[in-house]
Amino acid sequence: MNLLELREVTKEYPTSSRRKGWFGQKTQVQAVNRVNVTIQKAQTWGLVGESGSGKSTLAKLILKIEPLTAGEIFLKGQCLYGKKMKDLFIYKTIQLVLQDSSSSLHPKLSIREILMDPIRNFFPKQKGEWEDRLLKCLQLVELDPTFLSRYPHQLSGGQKQRVAIARALAVGPEFIIFDESLASLDEESQHSILSSLKSIREEEQLTYLFITHDLQSAMQLCDQIAIMYQGELVETFSCSEDVRTLQHPYSQLLFQGLG
Ligand SMILES: Nc1ncnc2c1ncn2[C@@H]1O[C@H](COP(=O)(O)OP(=O)(O)OP(=O)(O)O)[C@@H](O)[C@H]1O
Ligand SMILES: [Mg+2]
Repeated sequence: MNLLELREVTKEYPTSSRRKGWFGQKTQVQAVNRVNVTIQKAQTWGLVGESGSGKSTLAKLILKIEPLTAGEIFLKGQCLYGKKMKDLFIYKTIQLVLQDSSSSLHPKLSIREILMDPIRNFFPKQKGEWEDRLLKCLQLVELDPTFLSRYPHQLSGGQKQRVAIARALAVGPEFIIFDESLASLDEESQHSILSSLKSIREEEQLTYLFITHDLQSAMQLCDQIAIMYQGELVETFSCSEDVRTLQHPYSQLLFQGLG
């Protein structure tokens, strides 16, 4: 079964009144336009494209943070917008890691409390396993247990981002969306977290959607890459292919000199 399937997914935002079109009629921004893509379990997809091409909007639609304008999304065969779909099921299956994790880690909570919170919420009846889960998440992101008693302000940017990844792992997801999750880190932290993501994926059999402007990282981590341009998914390709076989002019421009 497909883990995630997008069919003709479209999102329009109304523009602000200042930017109304001719004769004052309302105009729309076509943020995502008829995107079709199927993601299988344990695949790693990269999502690349210029700023404003609709990458984050697509992530928000998958997580139901924003409503669709048109199209359909299926998560594990069930319609994301169907009556039977529970929000808890979505968040148990899919987690999101953003660029600026430091702002989303509560400054007054210790790392133990930050990680225990989702564990308690998602595994309320397995109290006996809480501590093991906590330690496992920390170990996956390669932080030692001494971090548990620390607070976010006592951590480096890279360490905070590791905590944000551990918090996503705490709910035991099948699928993680990384939206520019490494972008604000220095090169060394990026490399080291990228290699952690590879081993976490192997160990936990996870599926990733890795949204980035860093094509080198995308090529290193992913097996498939989707290229967005002005809201449309213009091309998908497998990283084992030669980038010289890319068809769309924007893809060719983007990957010029790579591969
Ligand atoms: N809440 C919103 N209201 C109106 N327009 C929006 C909203 N969110 C996004 N947009 C518009 O939708 C388009 C796609 O934005 P999106 O954030 O998805 O781009 P992106 O590919 O993630 O860009 P970046 O690489 O800079 O993060 C842009 O034109 C943006 O201005
Ligand atoms: Mg974005």
